[in-house]
Amino acid sequence: METTDERLGDLRRRKAQAAAGGGPQRVDAQHAKGKMTARERLDAMLDEGSFQEIDSLVEHRCRDFGMDQNVVPGDGVVTGHGTIGGQTVYCFAQDFTVYGGSLGEMHGLKICKVLDMAMKTGSPVIGLNDSGGARIQEGVASLGSYAEIFFRNVRASGVIPQISVIMGPCAGGAVYSPAITDFVIMVDQTAHMFITGPEVIKTVTNEDVSFEELGGASTHASLSGVTHFTAEDDEDALAIVRNLVSFLPQNNLEKSPRKATSDPADRDCEPLQTIVPDDPLKPYDVVDVIGQLVDDGDFLEVQAEYAQNIVVGFARLDGHPIGVVGNQPNHLAGCLDIDASVKAARFVRFCDAFNIPLLTLVDVPGFLPGANQEWGGIIRHGAKLLYAFSESTVPKMTVVMRKAYGGAYDVMCSKHIRGDYNIAWPTAQLAVMGADGAVQIIHRRRLENATNSEQERERLVEEYGELFANPYKAAALGYLDDVVEPRETRAKLCKALSMLLDKQETRPARKHGNIPL
Ligand code: HXC
Repeated sequence: METTDERLGDLRRRKAQAAAGGGPQRVDAQHAKGKMTARERLDAMLDEGSFQEIDSLVEHRCRDFGMDQNVVPGDGVVTGHGTIGGQTVYCFAQDFTVYGGSLGEMHGLKICKVLDMAMKTGSPVIGLNDSGGARIQEGVASLGSYAEIFFRNVRASGVIPQISVIMGPCAGGAVYSPAITDFVIMVDQTAHMFITGPEVIKTVTNEDVSFEELGGASTHASLSGVTHFTAEDDEDALAIVRNLVSFLPQNNLEKSPRKATSDPADRDCEPLQTIVPDDPLKPYDVVDVIGQLVDDGDFLEVQAEYAQNIVVGFARLDGHPIGVVGNQPNHLAGCLDIDASVKAARFVRFCDAFNIPLLTLVDVPGFLPGANQEWGGIIRHGAKLLYAFSESTVPKMTVVMRKAYGGAYDVMCSKHIRGDYNIAWPTAQLAVMGADGAVQIIHRRRLENATNSEQERERLVEEYGELFANPYKAAALGYLDDVVEPRETRAKLCKALSMLLDKQETRPARKHGNIPL
């Protein structure tokens, strides 16, 4: 019979074997690629000493291809829970040193357990992905476990925040778990995501494309919009996770934690007085406006490199986390196009699902004209943003800084789609279109017949401008709650938010709406 000492020794040996992963050579190879190991990543991401591992003794059940001779406890993924800034999170980190982090049946079921526990306790889930994909030796059992994960990701969507960090390969159907989660962070150069790799593409379409071009971080940040943040290296990626989590609630029944700030709620924003140029065609940077308005100028921009004509991200007002959506006059004059509409709609829906109030900054000349936009479905995609703002019931504050033209006026969280506090600066123009375009259409015949058509045109533009190129017509109709000096905006927003925090608004019960996908 074994003694207690022997049993303790046996336990320690098993735990040590699990902790060693694929062994020192593979750990060295991981480090040589500039990558941390799974455990190092978890330690860097979580509050010191907070990680509690589960399932380190889980083993695969595969008996084919000599797999029974190659069993590593933990099965290539480290799972458990810990805290970030004191907030509980569940997490998993795939261990590339064990079968290339590939996902077999039990590896997948460990991730499922983490997702189930996170749902039971109402905590965010963070997945650190570094995997060769489906474990080839386990065949369909591996695909089954993938689908179990996908199903849980969908079930958890809008209930607990889900964050995916891609820190190595993520290929084939494996990409669909991160794609369903709320935020994707990719590490530059070491992370790659694609459905089919360069070789398959070469065979099927004869295109030559490198791993990096096809599915690297910069491709997904600027071209496809798959990723929300690009990190310089593993450490940077984990720092982004920590910052992001600080803005989020634990689940859809809670509010995000308030963070103490020494930035006065009634701070005067003097630089905003002159930020909007006199010339309505001149651009300015909406990120500067956000920097002035929010606590300590602290703004975590989301998808900064994608659809740059709209800016979205997290900040705080008087300590309360908010989501900011702003047209960017610096890019495409701030027009809404397909990509900008989809980007902002997804962000608005995230904020609404997780009780994060919205601040919308408006300077939009309209939807981007063009045959490609029409053929690409701007009608369908633009409708997503309209839908997202309309269905959202979180506190909604809107500041019209300059142009709010046409359908884009309605879409950008106008009073009519239930903005709670809508204000404008004196530089605002709320109209169907700019004065020049309007005169061209409604006075075309008069201009054709005028003896001095240029002089007449200028007079008519001025007349139209006096009527609509200002915020007062809209204020007179009650479409704006106030017109304020730009310098007063932070103080006004902070007061409005404190009044709106406990706002209650419901929509008719239904299974779910039918957003135009
Ligand atoms: C089992 C795998 C594996 C896999 C890698 N390994 N991928 N084992 N199943 N899918 C093992 C390797 O055998 C090797 O084991 C170790 O992991 C490291 O792999 P290397 O090739 O030496 O590493 P590297 O050169 O860095 O290349 C990494 C890689 C490459 C690009 C990921 O391994 C690769 O292309 N793997 C196959 C990828 C793939 O086709 N997966 C299936 C995709 S389809 P040893 O013992 O030598 O260390 C898919 C569908 C998901 O995933 C479907 C979901 C619905």
